[in-house]
Amino acid sequence: MTAHSGRHFLQIPGPTNVPDRVLRAIAQPTIDHRGPDFAELALDLRERVKPVFGTGGPVVIYPSSGTGAWEAALVNTLSPGDRVLAFETGHFASLWRDMAQRLGLVVDFVPGDWRRGVDAAVVAERLAADKGHGIAAVMVVHNETSTGVTSRIPEIRAAIDEADHPALLLVDTISSLGSIDYRHDDWGVDVTVGCSQKGLMLPPGLGFNAISDKALALAPTARLAKSYWDWTPILDANEHGFYPYTPATNLLYGLREALQLLEEEGLRNVFARHSRHAAATRAAVRGWGLEVLCVNEREYSSSLTAVLLGAEHDADKVRRIILDRFDMSLGTGLGKLSGRVFRIGHLGDLNDLTLAGTLSGVQMGLELAGVNVDPNGLQAALSVLRAE
Ligand SMILES: Cc1ncc(COP(=O)(O)O)c(C=O)c1O
Repeated sequence: MTAHSGRHFLQIPGPTNVPDRVLRAIAQPTIDHRGPDFAELALDLRERVKPVFGTGGPVVIYPSSGTGAWEAALVNTLSPGDRVLAFETGHFASLWRDMAQRLGLVVDFVPGDWRRGVDAAVVAERLAADKGHGIAAVMVVHNETSTGVTSRIPEIRAAIDEADHPALLLVDTISSLGSIDYRHDDWGVDVTVGCSQKGLMLPPGLGFNAISDKALALAPTARLAKSYWDWTPILDANEHGFYPYTPATNLLYGLREALQLLEEEGLRNVFARHSRHAAATRAAVRGWGLEVLCVNEREYSSSLTAVLLGAEHDADKVRRIILDRFDMSLGTGLGKLSGRVFRIGHLGDLNDLTLAGTLSGVQMGLELAGVNVDPNGLQAALSVLRAE
């Protein structure tokens, strides 16, 4: 193993770099989760977490990864044999579909080419055709982490409303929360699924469900088997600052500090920073003469960029060279994009120079791997960073 000096560049699209302030907060001694100090922490978080989701309603916090929060969204709202509408936007949408099927739901899966988001016109068409209102929920991944494509949730909401269809809207905001504008209440989302290790700048280990009144009302009668994920006992215990199980106390300390950081910067500024860094990254990719995987400029992701290489190059070889030579991790191509793309994460605790360093490492790695790139790509990104 080569010894590296300086800090590792963790530029995958999550887990992201954990700020020192958050690491220090997590390092506090664990306390009694049934004592008054814990109750104070939990009651504070119960309110403070809401603005990140754009909601005034309840948010359940699980000691889980995002996958657990996906399951919680389904089992609290749906019953065996229910039909759900989902869209093949990429790897994570496909995994969520697989989970829904394993849980006993019937999934209408709209095929996709992994280069664009959910087409609201297709949502409208499918729901209009569903005269008997058999579709119980529409499942959407807001930001597809495997492709760097962000679906437009307000347009999907409008399509559901235009069809006058009662289907629930379930949205995965795992790699957009705290990085890309998101509004659970304004956009009429019924369950928002989130997790800790991306825009919230925490280690993995917390999963979230933001819940609408409509979804909450369904929980007692939804018949998919649930126990650990059941919202009701958790929300009841949360009222008094407690949990029906041992919570992830130290991650909750981290969450309090991460929310503080987001409050200090201001969510609008956080979103603008991500969008600027994404624009600089795309300028580099285009300047190198390479292709951004996302084909629709209205769907560019602010939290990551997937870069498509020609068939003659192996994207994982490029990543390997960058890791060995420059101590930087980039995201691999997932599922059917394996070997064809690499993903640059530009979300979470990031500044202009971290991004400039990241793009320098990518450019040098591409050159070392024999990919024919124009070195002016980096300059194009620096011009974007310098401009504003
Ligand atoms: C969009 C999206 N959904 C779901 C998941 C699954 O989350 P986890 O790996 O935390 O279980 C991920 C993980 O990266 C993701 O990016």
